[in-house]
Amino acid sequence: MRPSVLATRATFPDIADRLHRYFDVEDNPQDTIWSPAELRQRLQGKHGVMSTGSERIDAALLDACPQLKAVCNVGVGYNNVDVAACTARGVLVTNTPDVLTETTADYGFALMMATARRIAESQDFVRRGEWVKTGIHDMFVGGDVHGATLGILGMGRIGRAIARRGALGFGMRVIYHNRSRLSDEAEAESGARYVDKATLLKEADHLVLVLPYSPQSHHAIGAAELAQMKPSATLTNIARGGIVDDAALAKALRAGTIAAAGLDVFEGEPAIHPDLLTLPNALLTPHIGSASVQTRRDMAALTIDNLIAALGYGPQAGKPPT
Ligand code: DGY
Repeated sequence: MRPSVLATRATFPDIADRLHRYFDVEDNPQDTIWSPAELRQRLQGKHGVMSTGSERIDAALLDACPQLKAVCNVGVGYNNVDVAACTARGVLVTNTPDVLTETTADYGFALMMATARRIAESQDFVRRGEWVKTGIHDMFVGGDVHGATLGILGMGRIGRAIARRGALGFGMRVIYHNRSRLSDEAEAESGARYVDKATLLKEADHLVLVLPYSPQSHHAIGAAELAQMKPSATLTNIARGGIVDDAALAKALRAGTIAAAGLDVFEGEPAIHPDLLTLPNALLTPHIGSASVQTRRDMAALTIDNLIAALGYGPQAGKPPT
């Protein structure tokens, strides 16, 4: 019997075709956002779910769907899944590491540069028709990226890829803080030096957040941390909303505690703290760090490989899932 799978969100049609080749699939080509009750109802009788960060997979849902064997998340982050509850019930959880590392690092670097050099603010100014005089010496002056100190909080695959860009491509001094220190070899390869969190906050000209969300990292950057940063510093968050206290950040941006922030993720997204929406020194994008065509395709394809491996059906059966 073919296993049955729920795909909670739309994917590329040819990739969806592959899912249909191996499984009985209930999918969502219209990309409707289901309520938790609707998700629960649709998950009845399914053996696997192709989930995304927008659905919460928790103990209550698992208990309502006892036939579920695999939660295969499209994304490297899986804070939407209660992994302990899954493990306790013998449900396998997979994610999509590696395939998105370089694309997400590109985006983090781009967002950091755009924030430092005030690109979005400048564009808004031009589009509003306010550019009426050329050659103004201090118009949209920002901070340099080359030669500056890049601080990275969280030093997994994406953090290391951002470090390499900074050190090798832009001659930056790169410092990082992480739960555990990298090996000497990995530090040398990333061009990054380990420091404690206080030093990271104090010395970074551009601080980029790349750590996973967990109760331990909740509000890792709040008022107290922002107060330790340079007034000229920028903060870039491509990790998860909730790592930054958005209300405290909005206050700090308004007060000039730090210069600017580039944010791709938000507490409670797609809702955004209303104060952030009003601040010209906040560059806001809709959680698109991994959004290149190739990478989004690779993430979906890897998730299907994981479902096949986890449910023991099709060509990947027997291969270890990620
Ligand atoms: C990820 O891969 O975790 C991205 O943030 C998409 O959710």
